[in-house]
Amino acid sequence: MTHPILYYAAGACALAVLFPKLRARLRLSRAKHRSLAGHSRMARRFASVVPYYEYDAEHFFRADAAPDHVAAARRAGFMRLAAVFTERFRETADLTDDIVDAVSDLQFTSRYRVPFQFSRFVREHFQAGVFLQSSSGVTVTDMDGNRFYDLTGSYGVNLFGYDFYKECIARGSERVRELGPVLGAYHPITAYNIRRLLEISGLDEISFHMSGTEAVMQAVRLARYHTGRSHLVRFCGAYHGWWGDVQPGVGNPMAQGDTYTLQEMDDATIKVLRTRRDIACVLVNPLQALHPNISAPGDSTLVDSGRRAHFDRAAYSAWLGKLREVCSERGIVLIFDEVFVGFRLSLRGAQEYFGVKADMVTYGKTVAGGLPVGVLCGRRQFMRRFRDDRPADICFARGTFNSHPYVMGAMSEFLKHIESEPVLRLYRDLDTVWNFRAQTLNERLQSAGLPVRVANLSSIWTICYQQPSRYNWMFQYYLRAAGLALSWVGTGRLIFSLNYTDADFSDVCDAMVSAAHAMQEDGWWWASPQLTNKSIRRGVLKEMLQARWLSPIGSMSSPRIR
Ligand SMILES: Cc1ncc(COP(=O)(O)O)c(C=O)c1O
Repeated sequence: MTHPILYYAAGACALAVLFPKLRARLRLSRAKHRSLAGHSRMARRFASVVPYYEYDAEHFFRADAAPDHVAAARRAGFMRLAAVFTERFRETADLTDDIVDAVSDLQFTSRYRVPFQFSRFVREHFQAGVFLQSSSGVTVTDMDGNRFYDLTGSYGVNLFGYDFYKECIARGSERVRELGPVLGAYHPITAYNIRRLLEISGLDEISFHMSGTEAVMQAVRLARYHTGRSHLVRFCGAYHGWWGDVQPGVGNPMAQGDTYTLQEMDDATIKVLRTRRDIACVLVNPLQALHPNISAPGDSTLVDSGRRAHFDRAAYSAWLGKLREVCSERGIVLIFDEVFVGFRLSLRGAQEYFGVKADMVTYGKTVAGGLPVGVLCGRRQFMRRFRDDRPADICFARGTFNSHPYVMGAMSEFLKHIESEPVLRLYRDLDTVWNFRAQTLNERLQSAGLPVRVANLSSIWTICYQQPSRYNWMFQYYLRAAGLALSWVGTGRLIFSLNYTDADFSDVCDAMVSAAHAMQEDGWWWASPQLTNKSIRRGVLKEMLQARWLSPIGSMSSPRIR
C-alpha cells in the first residue's frame, strides 16, 4: 500500500511544476540562512516576545549551576574587580552618571554590553564611564589619567593612528580656512579628492555624503532607479548602517518588504539571483568574510561559547567572483560596501584585495582623515540622477553638509599621505604581520591553558571562546582592568590601527594573557561534563519560557523575574 505521505509529496511536486510563483518562493526560502537572522520577520516576532528577567545577586554567580565554592570565587573576583573600577575610574564614571539619564544612546550601549539577565547587576558594580580626554600613539587616556591601549579603532576610522588623523584635520583645516564653512560651492581641493578616489576605486563618478549610512542609501536608490526593479539583496548578518531597508530585522520597528536577506557563500543564493526579475542590487559587506551569515559579534549576545569566526580569503574571493558573474549576467548592480574595510585591507580596498570589481563602492569612516563622511563611487551608467530622454524622471539626492570644505580638507590630507613612504610601509606584508600576531597570541593562550582564541581578518579581530560558559562576556571587564580599551560590543570586535609596533602588540598580548588568567582563577570558566553550549542554550530557553508563562519564582537560586 502506498504511504499517504507520498501522495502529499506528489501533490507538492505537481504544484511546484504548475506554479512558477510557488517555485520562485521555494527557491527564495532555500536561499535563506537557517538562523533567526536569516528570517527577519520571524526574528522580529521572536524579539517581541522575549521576556525580561534578571538574575538576583545569588543566581548571578551560578547561572550554570556551578558548585558553592566556584560561585564564592566568582563573587570574590567580581567584587575585587568592581573595587578596582570604582577606585580607578571614579571621575570618568561620575561625569558619565551625571549625563546618562539624558542620553538615550548611552543608556542603550551601557544596557547592551552583556546578556540582559546579567546587565543590571553588572551596571550597578562596573562604572567605567564614557569620557576620554586625549589620545596618543596607540593609546587613549580617560579623565582619571588611565592610559589604555586602544582596541576600539574608533569604529574602524582609526587606521593609521590618532596622531595621523590629528595632522590630517589640522593641515586640512588650514588649507580650507580662507573659504571656511561655505556650503553648496566646492572648495578647489575637492577636485583632487575626486580624482584620487576615482583612481582608487577604478570607477567613473562620485558623490559625497555625511555618513556611511547615507552613501549606502544613495547606492541602493540609484540601483533601483536605473534597473527599474524594487528589491535589494543583502546578506544575513551584514551591517550596512541603520537605514531601514538594509536592516530589516531586529532593531527596525517596521518590516521591510523590498529587501531579501539571503545566505552568503551559498549556491541557493546564486540560483535566486539567476532567476528572479525584481532584484535591483546585491549589497556586500566584505567584513562578513570573517564570519559569513553571522551578525556583528557583540558580547550582549554571548549566551554561550558558540561564537565562531574564520577567514578564508580564497573561498571568499571565489564567492565574490560568482556574485560578479551572476550580477553581470542579470543586469543586477553589484555594490561593495567598503565603509568599514575600505583602505584597511589594502590601499585600493576590497576590490583589489579580493580581486573582484564592483559596479558601485561605498567608502566612509577613515577616508575623511578623521571627520564624518560617506562616499559613493560608481560606474557612470548607474550614477546619473537624470535621464536625457525624460527630463522629469530624476533620482533626487542632496544633503546640506555634503562636500563640507573642512571634511574635504582633511580628506585631501588623508589621500595625499596614504601614498607616502611611511604609510606604504604599513601596507607592506599587512596580512603576514597581522596573521603572525594573531598566531603568536593564540600560541601564548594555548600554552597557558586558557580557553580563549582570536580569529582575524587582517587587523580586524574577534575573540572566540573554546569552553562552554555563560560568563565569557566578563572578559571585557578583566581586559579593561588590564589596560585595554574595547568598544561597547566588547570582545566581539577588536580593531587595531596599523601603527601598532611589535612592542605595543607584545604589551597587548601580555595584558590579554594576564586578564584571561585572572578570569580563569576567579572561576568563571568552571567546566563540567554537563555544561555544553547546547545545555546552556536549552537552559536559557527554559528560563525564558518560565519568565513568560509562569509566575515569578521565589527561590533564590532561580531567576528572579521583574
Ligand atoms: C559596512 C558599513 N556600512 C555602513 C556603515 C554605516 O556608516 P555610518 O556609521 O558612518 O553611517 C557602517 C558602520 O559601521 C559599516 O560598517
